[in-house]
Amino acid sequence: MTSENQKPLLPLRDIVIFPSTVVPLFVGRKKSIKALEEVMKTDKSIVLVAQKNPEVDDPKEEDIYSYGCLGKILQLLKLPDGTVKVLVEGLERVKINSVKKEEKKYLNCEIQIVSSTGDSQESKTLASNLIKKFEKLSNLSKKEASDFAKNLKSLTSTSHIADNISSNLNIQLFEKQHLLEIFDLTKRLEKIYEIIEKETSVITMEKKIRGRVKNQMEKTQREYYLNEQLKAIQKELGEIEEGKDEVSSLSNSILKAKMTKEAQTKCLSELKKLKSMSPMSAEATVVRNYLDWMVELPWHIKDKKLENIDLLAAKKILDEDHFGLEKIKERILEYLAVQKRVGKMKGAILCLVGPPGVGKTSLGKSIARSTGRKFVRMSLGGIRDEAEIRGHRRTYIGSLPGKIIQQMKKAGTKNPLFLLDEIDKVGTDYRGDPSSALLEALDPEQNIAFNDHYLEVDYDLSDVMFVTTANTLNILPPLLDRLEVIRIPGYTEDEKINIANNYLIPKQLKNNGLKNDEWNLDQPVLKDIIRSYTKESGVRNLEREISKLARKTVKNILTKEDGDKVISSKNLSKFLGVKKFNYGEKESDNKVGIVTGLAWTEHGGEILKIESAIMPGKGKMQITGKLGDVMQESVKAAKSYVRSKSLEFGIIPPIFEKKDFHVHVPEGATPKDGPSAGIAMVTSIISSITGIPVDRNIAMTGEVTLRGHVLQIGGLKEKLLAAHRAGIPKVLIPEDNKKDLVEIPKDILDKIQISTVKTVDEVLKLALTKELKPVEWIEVENIPKTKNNEKPTAGSTH
Ligand SMILES: Nc1ncnc2c1ncn2[C@@H]1O[C@H](COP(=O)(O)OP(=O)(O)OP(=O)(O)O)[C@@H](O)[C@H]1O
Ligand SMILES: [Mg+2]
Repeated sequence: MTSENQKPLLPLRDIVIFPSTVVPLFVGRKKSIKALEEVMKTDKSIVLVAQKNPEVDDPKEEDIYSYGCLGKILQLLKLPDGTVKVLVEGLERVKINSVKKEEKKYLNCEIQIVSSTGDSQESKTLASNLIKKFEKLSNLSKKEASDFAKNLKSLTSTSHIADNISSNLNIQLFEKQHLLEIFDLTKRLEKIYEIIEKETSVITMEKKIRGRVKNQMEKTQREYYLNEQLKAIQKELGEIEEGKDEVSSLSNSILKAKMTKEAQTKCLSELKKLKSMSPMSAEATVVRNYLDWMVELPWHIKDKKLENIDLLAAKKILDEDHFGLEKIKERILEYLAVQKRVGKMKGAILCLVGPPGVGKTSLGKSIARSTGRKFVRMSLGGIRDEAEIRGHRRTYIGSLPGKIIQQMKKAGTKNPLFLLDEIDKVGTDYRGDPSSALLEALDPEQNIAFNDHYLEVDYDLSDVMFVTTANTLNILPPLLDRLEVIRIPGYTEDEKINIANNYLIPKQLKNNGLKNDEWNLDQPVLKDIIRSYTKESGVRNLEREISKLARKTVKNILTKEDGDKVISSKNLSKFLGVKKFNYGEKESDNKVGIVTGLAWTEHGGEILKIESAIMPGKGKMQITGKLGDVMQESVKAAKSYVRSKSLEFGIIPPIFEKKDFHVHVPEGATPKDGPSAGIAMVTSIISSITGIPVDRNIAMTGEVTLRGHVLQIGGLKEKLLAAHRAGIPKVLIPEDNKKDLVEIPKDILDKIQISTVKTVDEVLKLALTKELKPVEWIEVENIPKTKNNEKPTAGSTH
């Protein structure tokens, strides 16, 4: 810091001038021009300071930085538009102590010269390194800087080198100002070093990225070019005919498919996208698959108009395929008749409910045949994922439409018969609720616009005839609400024999290539097969056994074995192996505590043995046999009922505290549930307490209340069929179920004697082999103590 001085000031909008650099400036502001004119009259030196904000037109002291550069005007040129071009040379760093406004209106300031400090050997080395770095940077950024670099090398003062480089750096104004304000040379050089380093790495990175992008571009262009060439070669070879390339053939198919407007627009826009894609790319495959699906879906093709259904022919076909099932066929015909009149599929959807093997699925097929519709089937068993029904969005790799749309494509027409098998087996979990998608498909109000995630456009399902099947009525309530349930309860023995003779045997003979005269079956054999080799409501096992017989017969014929020609009751076991079941499950004699109940499961009706035993203990109750909650409660209710009425049944109450009770329902591996074994439980408990045996010829079903009333039960037909299969001659049913007897086949009513009961008393009267004798029981207070201080047994429950 050497001298103080008064000098005119030239504010600079966008440049910082460093000592030892020569810079041209354009000066336009009147005040600045005045300042220049002023200094030209004197020693031509002027203070050059940067403005903090370049936008300020008339800067004051606070608008300029407080450090600047003292400069000398080397040249001044007045341009015709009134502005002035000057060439200035920076001389020294100066500190601006104060700024004054002159009368002549330019700024005048008082300055103090600041010289650089810290010039040492270290700074010299740093400076020469810096020159190399800067050269490298200039080469990288491809600036015409070779002259400048040469000049740099000719400079001897370290401070000048630093300032020259600073002035040439590509950095912001405030950063340059910062460099101007570092007086310590080493520090300034280090700062510059840091800036250059940063700049170099940025430029290198940019270069790398640019290179990569370029490569990518070249690759795509190359692929495009090669593909075009490939096309040209294929055309030359005649593999693609003119105008019949992929895009135009797709666009033809789109138009031919006669889609809905929405679908067509969507397809055409996808096709447009496909055109601009490289044909081998993954995206193009996705779009192509999508278009293939859309084009192949039946959008307008319909089979035979609904109004043309011939009801008589339909009835004939139904009869041809299935024996009996009169009511069900009748209901189906009603349904078809309405369709014929209305011409549209409105109204509830048929749901065939029944045990396995009763012909639900095959009835569905038969309905399709009788109405001339295509038949498609989808099993809902185990479907837990909504996407299986509604499809995945196309963004997923390998996505496909849902099963409904897949089956529609398979059907190839808009109005097939669509069988939704096992609708009671749809489940719900975290992957969404498939039943909600089903609801949309089944609801005639909504299915005009069924939404599949993959297709993205609506598809009209309103012409489809949906038929559903289920084993139980455990169907989700909103689904069940849309269904019209038709029950197929199971077949009687006579019906099964008829089905076997007229349907199963001819079918199996044909399947196994047997001629009629090669098949010799004694008629009574069928009954034996049904009784000893099957135990079912339907006829699937029966069909399997018949098929086994047919198979063995064919084998005997072909191997020319001298096997039996006629299948009779005597040699049946040679064909089918040992008997699988014992016909007639009633007990060999009347037993205490064992009662035959009747149950209804998804396999149809079944016999349920209920056993109870009492043993010395403390009044504990044990229930075994894998019973469900409801059945366990029903055992407890039965016990409470017996206890509350014990005197009427001839039971002396203390027994309930002195004995343990055990109720068991054998075949412990199969789960059992439901309240309908109530009266059987009561009977069993009373029998085991009183020791009176139960009539083995009686089976019973009915729920029991705590007051001893017998309540209505479900599945009467199935239960009676089960009793019939087991060869039980007498069945007790609730009085309220009397109305259901009209539905029971006559041959069952002929073979089983049915008694209706209203109260437990009636049950006991019929089921126990001896009458119960009530006991009289009088509560006496203050029972006198006996000599040995023992309570009399009768008083101990008090
Ligand atoms: N009434 C009948 N007349 C002729 N054949 C019958 C009859 N009932 C069932 N069948 C035959 O029994 C076999 C089994 O029927 P199907 O497969 O339709 O049973 P399902 O009720 O669908 O059983 P699941 O509940 O196990 O699916 C079929 O071959 C069918 O032709
Ligand atoms: Mg089925």
